[in-house]
Amino acid sequence: MDSMLVTGGCGFIGTNFVRYLLKESDFSGRVINVDKLTYAGNPENLSDIEKDFPERYIFTKTDICDQEGMARIFEDYRIDTVCHFAAESHVDRSIVRPDAFIQTNIVGTFNLLELAKANQGRLILFHHISTDEVFGSLGKEGFFTEETPYKPNSPYSASKAASDHLVRAYYKTYGLPITISNCSNNYGPYQFPEKLISLMILNALEGKTLPVYGDGRNIRDWLYVKDHCTAVWTIMKHGKRGETYNIGGKNEMENIGLVEMICDVLDEHQKREDNLPRRELITFVKDRPGHDRRYAIDFTKLTRELAWIPEESLETGIHKTIQWYLDNQEWVSRIKSGEYQSWIEEHYG
Ligand code: NAD
Ligand code: DAU
Repeated sequence: MDSMLVTGGCGFIGTNFVRYLLKESDFSGRVINVDKLTYAGNPENLSDIEKDFPERYIFTKTDICDQEGMARIFEDYRIDTVCHFAAESHVDRSIVRPDAFIQTNIVGTFNLLELAKANQGRLILFHHISTDEVFGSLGKEGFFTEETPYKPNSPYSASKAASDHLVRAYYKTYGLPITISNCSNNYGPYQFPEKLISLMILNALEGKTLPVYGDGRNIRDWLYVKDHCTAVWTIMKHGKRGETYNIGGKNEMENIGLVEMICDVLDEHQKREDNLPRRELITFVKDRPGHDRRYAIDFTKLTRELAWIPEESLETGIHKTIQWYLDNQEWVSRIKSGEYQSWIEEHYG
């Protein structure tokens, strides 16, 4: 793998993956990061990488739906590997305005697959990043395995399911060398403050209310983002072509318990001026339509076949994450004030 196209590298997981690839992994090639820079993309996340790896890191602001632009990138950089993160990723937004989800997640993935097929001679791997939400919702018992039938419930998860099917179909029909990973909820550094954990940390630090949907008893299986990165790289190196791998954290938690935990850890790190516990900021609000009750991942296949296990527990991961947000107040304020977007305007138009 000499020339890897990473799509969506300025988003939350993409940023962590590019940082991991270049700074910590045994990958020795170059990364071409293609990102449209939607509200969720922030190239400042990688400005130190741009300085430290001038030969091995290239960024281009391009939409994955742009056929000509993407064709030039495949050609100019002789792309031999693709790791495809770019997506509209937030469920609540997909409920209000699904259009961009259909475009980027389905049409964008189709466009990349077509280009990968056109460049199949040199293509080593097309790795597609997906989600456990494609499997729908679990009851109190059981886990999602790689054999669980797809039953997506939101426009977001339906668009991701469609893209997974396309990727698999390109393997079956055209022999494209693909792997797919379906991962549970991620958290950690650089997460845009719209997802549960990042939103709760930043609201709690500002003394704002902490909106918990419905009865707060929905369950997610949380994974520290660095563990997702090591899993993806393991699959890319050793995964069997045409296969799907589940990635999870074995960290199931009810939302309300998680938000209380965040409040308590923040109180430990930094007391509020009025000394009141942050738990009093928790407010139950109207439920999300079609809200999936429980996700839980069985990642036995990834452990058995590729010897991957997550390193962080929810407790260690939450401590690290809170410390990161406390240590990176400038990043927080540029995101919250929208200054990062003015910077993008200035640099990329
Ligand atoms: P994110 O929203 O933080 O980042 C998405 C990135 O994609 C942004 O940088 C955005 O600018 C870019 N992008 C969007 N549309 C684009 C387009 N048309 N062309 C080029 N770039 C575009 O998302 P994330 O949380 O980092 O998720 C990354 C991937 O991982 C997604 O495919 C998502 O479905 C998947 N995933 C996320 C989670 C999670 O918990 N966040 C869990 C499992 C899987
Ligand atoms: O499971 C993987 C998926 O996890 C990814 O594919 C998605 O890209 C990612 O956004 C995430 O989806 P969720 O909907 O599970 O994540 P979110 O952080 O939006 O919500 C987590 C849980 O918290 C969910 O039960 C809804 C609830 N919630 C969320 C927000 C933003 C609240 O109670 N209050 C909130 O303000």
